[in-house]
Amino acid sequence: MCGIVGYLGNKNTKEILLSGLKELEYRGYDSAGIAVLQDGELINHKAVGKLVNLEEKTKNFVTDKFAVGIGHTRWATHGKPTELNAHPHLGESSYVVHNGIIENYAELKQELQNDGVKFLSQTDTEVIVHQFEKNLLKCNNEFEAFSKTISELNGAYATLIITASLPDTIFFAKHGSPMLVGTNDEDEKFFASSDSPLIGLAKEVNYFEDGDYGYVTKDELVIFDKDSKKVKPNFSKLSTDKLSAQKDGYRFFMEKEIYEQSDVIADTLIGRLSDEEIIFDEIDKNLFDGINEIKLCACGTSYHSALSASYMFERYSKIRCSVEIASEFRYRSPIMTKDTLFVVISQSGETADTLETLKMAKRAGLKTLVICNVDNSSMVRGADNCILTRAGIEKGVASTKAFATQVTVFWMLSLYVAKLKKSLTTDELKYQIQLLREVPLATKVSDDMHERIKRLSKRYLHGHGFFFIGRDIFFPLALEGALKLKEISYLHAEGYPSGEMKHGPIALADPELFTIALLPEHLLYEKSKSNVEELSARDSTICAISSLDFDKADDFIKINSCKDYMLEFFEMMIVVQLLSLEISVRLGNDVDMPRNLAKSVTVE
Ligand code: G6P
Repeated sequence: MCGIVGYLGNKNTKEILLSGLKELEYRGYDSAGIAVLQDGELINHKAVGKLVNLEEKTKNFVTDKFAVGIGHTRWATHGKPTELNAHPHLGESSYVVHNGIIENYAELKQELQNDGVKFLSQTDTEVIVHQFEKNLLKCNNEFEAFSKTISELNGAYATLIITASLPDTIFFAKHGSPMLVGTNDEDEKFFASSDSPLIGLAKEVNYFEDGDYGYVTKDELVIFDKDSKKVKPNFSKLSTDKLSAQKDGYRFFMEKEIYEQSDVIADTLIGRLSDEEIIFDEIDKNLFDGINEIKLCACGTSYHSALSASYMFERYSKIRCSVEIASEFRYRSPIMTKDTLFVVISQSGETADTLETLKMAKRAGLKTLVICNVDNSSMVRGADNCILTRAGIEKGVASTKAFATQVTVFWMLSLYVAKLKKSLTTDELKYQIQLLREVPLATKVSDDMHERIKRLSKRYLHGHGFFFIGRDIFFPLALEGALKLKEISYLHAEGYPSGEMKHGPIALADPELFTIALLPEHLLYEKSKSNVEELSARDSTICAISSLDFDKADDFIKINSCKDYMLEFFEMMIVVQLLSLEISVRLGNDVDMPRNLAKSVTVE
């Protein structure tokens, strides 16, 4: 997601900012910009798309003396990825960069507009710089104005401000979004939203705590804590390994991405929920006119999210929904009628089989929609309508956060259609939207849970196979759990509907057959439980995942008690992901780059 860099010193500020942003590229972005204050002059450059575009724009921009500068890579949330929406944002004579979300931006913006302030962008960030300049007029000095501004912001942020009247200072504040500052023997100061831009430049770094704010000059690093008490920097040495820095302290990208899910789901929801409806400004208002069926088409993990969507579309939106594996759909002479909305789902937007089905649907004259994580990918360019999942770049080949955000988008879309078709009452819709707001919390990984799964994993390194079983929407989750395990552990695993086990697979049951049972409290609990008991009676080794104690299991992983099965779905998703991860780690496999697999499969 978005990245921040800052620099104060005598070296080539432009190069330091640009190479810092390059280090943050892996987080994903769709525009970038820098602002530099040198010789009393504030200069700003922004570009949409990749950093090469910004490099091209700044190729004649020379920074060869003392300067302060800030830079940013933006992953669009409030407002489209345009140059005007790219950071840094300008007031009269100050620039700001910001990660996170300013929750009270609409009120602040309204007040500023009432005062005659003109806004150039659609972002929440721009209010910070205007609020700062408004406060400058009332306060005794710049720092007082900055402190006042920070106290007026609600939400999560990491932010830097430079202002023309103080050409040797960078102001900073951190609350909820990560940021650190580094320094060296030459008194240079470096800011970034994660370690990697600072490696090789800073000697020691201070990671800001939530609520910290202050400023740097050549000679000073002044930090105030959340209670406005001046605190000493708490310096630590910086690692010298860039790859490990990009992993933010996690052992693997997959692990980091599992932990990121809570945040990226919050990003997926931003701007799309009101109390009574789902807002998808990006899709055609008439998209669902004349549509009687939704057909979903995808591969791999994306196929599993599509399967989960089919339960939601039929249950909440009361619309017929079918799901297809893209490589099958391509060659089976499918019937395509114009009252069908054709939806492709893809993390990368480049998967050859899925892309081909999109072309087939377009040739047949169907309305099309893509749900995708990568803007400007082939599918995004090819479909008539697009919803971006906003998971940020996913590096682990085994998909985790992409899946989580796809399911979140599908849930929102099923409610969007439910509103159009009036298939849910206002109260039901409100309840569902409230549940959606609780998903970021349900997907927070608890240390205790992770420790427990780490410990349990040692019992699951052998055996002749795994069955992940679940009913209803927990069946696609079982399929996804099994796929995760086989992708990275190379153990044989299958996902199966719990009720179907007795029609064949139960013949395999013995102590060396591991059953991972998804037992949601709020969906078909009794039915699922008796399916598991059938397996337990035949001596299969059972690992049950539930919020309700279950004494027929050999192992039990207790999730938090939730008020709805959809929250249980997300809680269990974390469990099956972590279980695969820990089994793979114990087997000594390459978790991020499993054998024989590719992240994006652009061949048939
Ligand atoms: C590859 C990846 C899978 C992914 C599938 C579909 O096989 O290894 O993790 O689920 O492609 O990719 P897509 O980018 O279309 O979601």
